[in-house]
Amino acid sequence: MAVERTLTILKPDCVRKNLIGEVTRRIENAGFKIVAMKMTRLTETTAGGFYAVHKERPFFGELVEFMSSGPCVPMILEKENAIADFRKFIGATNPDEAEEGTIRADFADSLGENIIHGSDSVENGRIEASYFFSESEVVAVKS
Ligand code: RTP
Ligand code: MG
Repeated sequence: MAVERTLTILKPDCVRKNLIGEVTRRIENAGFKIVAMKMTRLTETTAGGFYAVHKERPFFGELVEFMSSGPCVPMILEKENAIADFRKFIGATNPDEAEEGTIRADFADSLGENIIHGSDSVENGRIEASYFFSESEVVAVKS
């Protein structure tokens, strides 16, 4: 299997609930290597740009409002099969449908406030990583 990168965001609800440490610990324990990480706050414009694919959807306004409501923690993660494995690790978008033991099942309150983001393809992972990080902010990590 190929080594891939995925872009995750610990969303504003994760930060507000003081779960940065717990979720990051689980990410590392699951074998994902953090190769870039920062804390930042999206504006409505940058949040809307990040989720531009959803701009015609009825929930777009709420999504932008939520994602810009407080600081968040984007990270680039590296692992074999990272894209699919991370989506499985975080669980379904709706926490009521997320498998037991996943991040969203354990910590998310609702479909709109679901703790964490994960890229849905290698190509989108690349685009999303460059949305938050420059080349010099991504470090080489030995496994
Ligand atoms: P994400 O991009 O944040 O990792 O989430 P996802 O792939 O699991 O889900 P996606 O379809 O990309 O939707 C992005 C975010 O929009 C919110 N959403 N609300 N009210 C609704 O029907 C609805 N559908 C999606 C969710 O917060 C989701 O994470
Ligand atoms: Mg998505």
